[in-house]
Amino acid sequence: MKTRITELFEIQHPIIQGGMHYVAFAELAAAVSNAGGLGIITALTQKTPEDLAREIARCREMTDRPFGVNLTFLPTVHAMDYPGYVAAIIEGGVKVVETAGRNPEAVLPALKDAGIKVIHKCTSVRHALKAEAIGCDAVSVDGFECGGHPGEDDIPNMVLLPRAAEELKIPFVASGGMADARSLVASLALGAEGINMGTRFIATVEAPVHENVKQALVAATELDTRLVMRPLRNTERVLNNPAVERLLEKEASLGKKLQFEDIVEEVVGVYPKVMTEGRVDSGVWSCGMVAGLIHDIPTCRQLVDGIMNEAETIIRQRLEGMLG
Ligand SMILES: Cc1cc2nc3c(=O)[nH]c(=O)nc-3n(C[C@H](O)[C@H](O)[C@H](O)COP(=O)(O)O)c2cc1C
Repeated sequence: MKTRITELFEIQHPIIQGGMHYVAFAELAAAVSNAGGLGIITALTQKTPEDLAREIARCREMTDRPFGVNLTFLPTVHAMDYPGYVAAIIEGGVKVVETAGRNPEAVLPALKDAGIKVIHKCTSVRHALKAEAIGCDAVSVDGFECGGHPGEDDIPNMVLLPRAAEELKIPFVASGGMADARSLVASLALGAEGINMGTRFIATVEAPVHENVKQALVAATELDTRLVMRPLRNTERVLNNPAVERLLEKEASLGKKLQFEDIVEEVVGVYPKVMTEGRVDSGVWSCGMVAGLIHDIPTCRQLVDGIMNEAETIIRQRLEGMLG
């Protein structure tokens, strides 16, 4: 399948693995890229730019295909050395950067000068248009279904994607709620040129996370995510657990008085406990509604090949058959 996204990133299949804190290490990125998609390492999981440089080098040892690095601008507890991370990306010869969180304008000149393609992940048409205006090569349009930060507009992909198609000139991929060939074909029909998956790629053999996390995703249904931190305008979709319920009780009882300090226990330092130690109830961690569509733990190649093969069947048999 050839789309503007496969051409732009020089990949075989229009499938991207989104950056994921404490999940998107070199092992996962390399496995996705080796399967013909675009794997992405998450910069901020690496504590220093030197650590990121090592992670990029590790990934290059595991794949000779293109892979990317995610650079997330979010309110973090500690100030991050963004110029240092950008330098590590450029010096590491990375060809694609996925930016997210807020406007990437500050890092764009350095990335573009180095010939790096930038795909900005955003949750609204207005932010996608801004990304286009400042020179991003593509956008990842993240609908309300998505795991992680869906923004504050709450527009699901069935409306968000065709709206993006109405307005954008640069190519975009559909992100949020993507799991299988049906997701891919539907996204193409709605105007996207590929898909970005987060949650689905966690439940793969190569994802370097604790088995408990993968089993939690297989066990979860589409009813099992919650939105937290909405009163702080930092909404995050997470898998429900006792820590999430505790946090939601605090949000309900403190109302407008809620401060970040009130929820530190449920939110800060959680990812290593969940992803590395497998303590899935120790705090809040991102998960998409798409958990309801995850029933197995395939290899990345099985997942990607399955999506591409089945997409062809849907297009050639199911859809063409309907035309009689
Ligand atoms: C556990 C987890 C961690 C994530 N961490 C990040 C991150 O650090 N930076 C980022 O830009 N997106 C992050 N995301 C969002 C994903 O890259 C992707 O946009 C999202 O998962 C798409 O929705 P889906 O989960 O329905 O596929 C994370 C998602 C998950 C599930």
